[in-house]
Amino acid sequence: MSRLVVVSNRVAKMDSSNTGSQGGLAVGVMAAMGKAGGLWFGWSGKVENRDDIEPKIETQGNIDYATVSLKTAEYNLYYKGFANSVLWPLFHQRPDLMMYDANDYRGYLEVNEKIAKHLLPLLRPDDTIWIHDYHLIPLGKMLRDAGVTSPIGFFLHTPFPPLDLLRTVPDYKDILLSLMSYDLVGFQTQADYRGFYMSVTYGLKGKALPGDRYEYQGYSCTAGVYPISIETDALRGVGKTGEASEEFKRLHYSLADRQLIIGVDRLDYSKGLEQRLLAYERLLRKYPEFLRSAVYLQIAPTSRGDVEAYKDLAKKIDRHVGHIVGTYADFDWVPLRYLNRGFRRNTILAMYNLASVGYVTPLRDGMNLVAKEYVAAQNPDDPGVLVLSEMAGAAAELDAAVHVNPYDIEGITQGLNKALKMPKEERKERWQSMMDVLKRRDIHYWQESFLKDLSAAPHGD
Ligand code: G6P
Repeated sequence: MSRLVVVSNRVAKMDSSNTGSQGGLAVGVMAAMGKAGGLWFGWSGKVENRDDIEPKIETQGNIDYATVSLKTAEYNLYYKGFANSVLWPLFHQRPDLMMYDANDYRGYLEVNEKIAKHLLPLLRPDDTIWIHDYHLIPLGKMLRDAGVTSPIGFFLHTPFPPLDLLRTVPDYKDILLSLMSYDLVGFQTQADYRGFYMSVTYGLKGKALPGDRYEYQGYSCTAGVYPISIETDALRGVGKTGEASEEFKRLHYSLADRQLIIGVDRLDYSKGLEQRLLAYERLLRKYPEFLRSAVYLQIAPTSRGDVEAYKDLAKKIDRHVGHIVGTYADFDWVPLRYLNRGFRRNTILAMYNLASVGYVTPLRDGMNLVAKEYVAAQNPDDPGVLVLSEMAGAAAELDAAVHVNPYDIEGITQGLNKALKMPKEERKERWQSMMDVLKRRDIHYWQESFLKDLSAAPHGD
């Protein structure tokens, strides 16, 4: 059997404290890698200004981790710059937050070259290579150009934008050609796939052929939709272990009989936190029965805190939180608990089970595994309700959630009100219908279907 080689900017270690600030990629790929084993290559997360760096190799269980550090300039141009100040805002439909600089694109390509250079000596002829996310789009072509003949697939964890937005990046044709250099390109949803289809056929004037094949001037690839998922069956058990944690016990005790609304997100402008807070405030104003009887816990670990747009967001959210607490709190009750740090995954899963409402309202999101995990963590006899944004990739599969438009404050308030008052029978029905989907399409299904299609896809050499 061929060895699986996964490459992603972030790698997640098995034993890491797993504080929940890593986002969906780390959670999803970790679960997938845990089963298959193999080599996982990526950034160490460190910035070191040394020239002599060789990948650091470390084995844990069935996974060999190989990581390299970045120099300050590389970090600034590649990670802070092109990846997180151009591609991230653009792919989340926020061109207003895009800060384009051609130097950043050069730095982005150079770091991809550096990763290719360090990865090449570790590769074997029978490997299957699977590259992840927007940081590493050019890597597949670089490996091919260096003579790698293994199957190479790519999966985009974020949304893919419509052509009109993609065109705002001067290098968009290069980006499309890089994508077309993979044997298989995977997207989260049909909408993302459509963005790619339109970009290749209208943006490049390439051809879409039967069998999801695309061709343009000597480039060819297959593309498909593979919604990332979770370890559905295991999560209730993992959550049970979290009930022993000090944090869970203190939360449980402090709630008494109040209904808990929970939100867990990286502090990112794509998550719709501002609108979410405004909708909660409106709930307290319009439905005073929730004063003292509900508590909203928002866990939002700081993320990319040195990127300007994220600093601005943090300030805005602080103001909203201060306003809600100052206006509604009492001597012995606060309506909102806001924590800028992450917790271990099992603690979070236990907290999900305690919460009457999972509050997940991103303005745009590739998938959103918090939504899926919230559902899987519920007690089947008394499940909570998921309030879910229509703009999250997960909404396509979780159609039994209470769907809201994340820009419509009144609509979100109504969604919360409905969720908090929903009778048990309806909660159970909705939960069962979502669980059926999550059991059928779990993380292993995601990995197996992608890798099966990758091995069947015609591949370049
Ligand atoms: C999203 C991205 C991942 C990224 C994660 C955390 O989930 O799709 O690629 O790793 O956010 O962001 P960070 O910048 O801390 O890696």
